[in-house]
Amino acid sequence: MDTTAPVADEQAARADARELAAADRAHLWHAMTPYNEARPPMIVAEGQGAWIADLEGNRFLDAMSGLWCVNVGYGREELARAAYEQMKTLAYYPLMHSHEPAIRLAERLSEWLEDEYVVFFSNSGSEANETAFKIARQYQQQIGQHARYKVVSRYRAYHGNTMGALAATGQAQRKYKYEPLAPGFVHVRPPDPYRRPEGMDEAEYGRQCARELEETIRWEGAESVAAVIMEPVITGGGMLVPPPDYLRLVREACDRHGVLLIVDEVICGFGRSGRKFGHQNYDVKPDIVTMAKGLTSGYLPLSATAVRRSVYEAFQGTEDYEYLRHVNTFGGSPAACALALANLELLEREQLVERSRLLGERLRAGMEELREHPLVGDIRSFGLLLGIELVADKQARTPLPVEQVTRLIAACKARGLIIGKNGDTVAGYNNVLTFAPPLASTDEDLAFLLATFKSVMHASESEG
Ligand SMILES: Cc1ncc(COP(=O)(O)O)c(C=O)c1O
Repeated sequence: MDTTAPVADEQAARADARELAAADRAHLWHAMTPYNEARPPMIVAEGQGAWIADLEGNRFLDAMSGLWCVNVGYGREELARAAYEQMKTLAYYPLMHSHEPAIRLAERLSEWLEDEYVVFFSNSGSEANETAFKIARQYQQQIGQHARYKVVSRYRAYHGNTMGALAATGQAQRKYKYEPLAPGFVHVRPPDPYRRPEGMDEAEYGRQCARELEETIRWEGAESVAAVIMEPVITGGGMLVPPPDYLRLVREACDRHGVLLIVDEVICGFGRSGRKFGHQNYDVKPDIVTMAKGLTSGYLPLSATAVRRSVYEAFQGTEDYEYLRHVNTFGGSPAACALALANLELLEREQLVERSRLLGERLRAGMEELREHPLVGDIRSFGLLLGIELVADKQARTPLPVEQVTRLIAACKARGLIIGKNGDTVAGYNNVLTFAPPLASTDEDLAFLLATFKSVMHASESEG
């Protein structure tokens, strides 16, 4: 038997990995990464279930589902097959015309939204939000509200990277050096129950935040405001979960002032919240719902802007400029739609929405043991989304410096666990660890996540 072969294979693989890393540094510009960072990139080679492996075969539990999107987990052949079969039959056609995968998907999304919605497809969450802003502005024009163009959004929320979606974003650190962005976006304070005024109960705090939003609409001049956009909970901006009545109160304020409510479900959608969509936890009906990520579980780019039929009806006029003059080449591609349909079927067949709720409860219960840890200021969750706010001083609630937060994340990775944090959001407040594992994670995956994270936190305690 030739015992040198495996050694030679291993050496060749390592040489390949080195060559690839060098080519990466020479040619690939990475998202959200400092110039020429000395740290070599993790080159991911494969994924299965909740786990990924790099080129050298190191395995990691991906407790962030990529970028909050691989809801059904990695390696689902049936999704690849759905795209492949569709590409063989019809690879492409623009949606000025139609094709069956887009029709069927729009129909299914309306069912998932539990009301009559009409759907416009794009490629990314940012574009879904841009589309929503254009629809909201044009809608207001067409019902005779010619001065309404402003969009109210919240500090600390992220809505995308394009000039409008970034203008809606309330994270100063993402905007520096790219401004001025699109005009007409106004920000209000989001509910952050952990940092609410001392002595105020949570319900009253929620009412106060909703009142502030309504006051902003008034102060801007309600007749100039087209829409409010918000996520059901602020996810990437620090897992800020509002008091239970807040979203309903915002809905009521929008109704009082003729303002459309856009709910950004880019992260919270497709079971992540323990319901099909995040807003369904709060019993409100948005006028417009934007979605991406979990729509295809990240397997292909696709996003959607779902609009209540009553809003869509305002576009039925036959005068010049009364229809939506908005198009993108790739949005609603047949393969992406076919894949999304297979993804929804899988979520339903494996009851992953219910699984998300159950895993979320267990993740939360497991993490609660860390409540007394000196660095843990707050633990908050929404379905299978969890945030841990780290503090340097529990009493004063001083945010933990980002270098220390990053060290904890690196320690998790060294033990095979990938977790996230809110990054480049608001100066001094990049101190919230985030967890969003695939909804299809196994019980063993969850146990590994909890045990690994706790061991890192306990080690940090003994290090002082
Ligand atoms: C809430 C929210 N909205 C919009 C976006 C933008 O989506 P995309 O990156 O697909 O453009 C993101 C991306 O993370 C998001 O988290």
